Amino acid sequence: MCGVVGYIGSKEAAPILIDGLQRLEYRGYDSAGIAVLNGSKITSRKEVGRLANLEKMLAADPVKGTRGIGHTRWATHGAPSQINSHPHSSSDGSIAVVHNGIIENYAELRDELSAKGHKFLSETDTEVVPHLIEQSLKDGAKSPVEAIQRTLKRLRGAYALGILFRTEPDAIYCARKGSPLIIGLGEKENFIASDVPAIINRIKKAIYLNDGEMAVVRADSVEICTMEGVAVTPVIKEISFKAEAAECAGFETFMLKEIHEQPRILRAMLEKHVSADGKIDIGSDLKPDYFRKLNRIMIVSCGTAYHAGMYGKLLLENLTGIAVETDLASEFRYRDPKIDPGTLIIPVSQSGETADTLASIRMAKEWGCKILAICNVEGSSVVRESDAVFFTNCGPEIGVASTKAYTAQLMAFALFSLYVAGVRGNLTPEQIKSYLADLQEVPDAVHYVIQKKDEIQAISEKHHDGPSSLYLGRKFNYPTALEGALKNKEISYQHAEGYAAGEMKHGPIALINDALPVICICTKTSDEVYEKMLSNIKEVEARSGRIIAVATEGDTEIAKLAGDIIYVPEVRDEFTPIVNVVGLQLLAYYAARARGTDIDKPRNLAKSVTVE
Ligand code: AGP
Repeated sequence: MCGVVGYIGSKEAAPILIDGLQRLEYRGYDSAGIAVLNGSKITSRKEVGRLANLEKMLAADPVKGTRGIGHTRWATHGAPSQINSHPHSSSDGSIAVVHNGIIENYAELRDELSAKGHKFLSETDTEVVPHLIEQSLKDGAKSPVEAIQRTLKRLRGAYALGILFRTEPDAIYCARKGSPLIIGLGEKENFIASDVPAIINRIKKAIYLNDGEMAVVRADSVEICTMEGVAVTPVIKEISFKAEAAECAGFETFMLKEIHEQPRILRAMLEKHVSADGKIDIGSDLKPDYFRKLNRIMIVSCGTAYHAGMYGKLLLENLTGIAVETDLASEFRYRDPKIDPGTLIIPVSQSGETADTLASIRMAKEWGCKILAICNVEGSSVVRESDAVFFTNCGPEIGVASTKAYTAQLMAFALFSLYVAGVRGNLTPEQIKSYLADLQEVPDAVHYVIQKKDEIQAISEKHHDGPSSLYLGRKFNYPTALEGALKNKEISYQHAEGYAAGEMKHGPIALINDALPVICICTKTSDEVYEKMLSNIKEVEARSGRIIAVATEGDTEIAKLAGDIIYVPEVRDEFTPIVNVVGLQLLAYYAARARGTDIDKPRNLAKSVTVE
């Protein structure tokens, strides 16, 4: 979604803002703009489309100044256009604002301000903000801080705001509620940004602004207060990852880099959470006794993280005997799920900023539930609002299509399920050791699949051109089928359906003909559903479907049925999804490459969905 950056220091602001916006490109955007303050003059430049267009404009007509704010816009209110791009200004041009989020009551505020003579130029919700600040000053606010505070109290919805005042040449202002915002601390220069990767090359320390807080950021100081004016002592955090983590490192895309990072990340998770004597430490503040008494778990998440939640449900039920439900956060928040305080809520989120997931956490907290998040981003809203966190620690995921965060979420569920099964006595220490020994094989198996990328590319190139594809899986690999289909549609724009293979006869079988690639996840282990998958594949074969199987190395049976096979090493049933999905990530990747899409920044998508 929209990206926000800001700079104040002694260097020229425009190149710093553009660099920050480039680093935020992965969030998804359709236009961009900056405003630079020089003495008492604010100059803005905005352009539709890629940042390169804005850069061209700046090259032809540069802006000078050492303080500024910048924005990449992902259109919500009003089409992508120059006039709708941020920054937006007050009537007299003395205030410029960039905004990530949605002002829900903008229509009524706009009517109110219009009646007072304010002229609006854009169709955006954001434009009410500079006008409200301007009006607050007219109505007697004694300072920019007071005007911002008065304004924030009038806003409903979510915002991360960056604000410049013509009258305040030595400060940039920012505020947040619902949308993330950090203040990056440099040497005699400071920054604001929607997230750390935007400024990771410039800072080592940051302050994560809390909801309801605003800040006055100067080159050598940061003052934080609440919207009620209560001063807040900033908590300064060291940034735990290096700038290179947010760079492509020689790979053609971030997504390909992130696919390749998976074996290392999975190994690191095992090293971090499993001791030499086979004890699992989930790094959570929730005590073993809490898990002994637990009788219900509710997993809530969106998109790829929802598929991870589906896997978590299957594994937790299988290993711990606890009743587990999983739901899409966007559905969960509007239903009446009959949750009692004894239910553990597990939100799963890479970004930690997904609006629906956050709303679900807040609801569950009102019901008195404990929240144990599985999350990748330290300091994110999900992390801060949860009672305990299992960090996936995969470093910044820049590709919009989630890959490494997904396999890390699956690994987190595997470790968590074994931990809970251990403390509850569902599994003996020996059984847990045996599971862990099998889990230790997973990173190498993932590495093996990645090594087969040329073969997978050749398969992709045979099948990428049709209008649609069908992904089938059962039990632990039903979520894998959904995730494989999601990856394909996200980045290659080929329509793809993920289905539980047993459901095929109840509808999707009608789609099958010799043009439809059917990707069947059919890894052979002791799993009871292998035979069932074979029957489903035979049904596809009987209707001339193009079968692409994900199968276990050495499986000769499948070779008689499938036109193309992605062979993967044998791992324990429960852990096959972590390995199998990597084959599907690569299948989607090379389909997208063959179809010439923008793999890291697929059209219309945003990396973190901070609005409903
Ligand atoms: C993944 O490829 C998607 N881009 C998307 O479905 C994502 O998983 C979803 O928006 C949830 O995001 P989160 O993990 O940051 O909460």
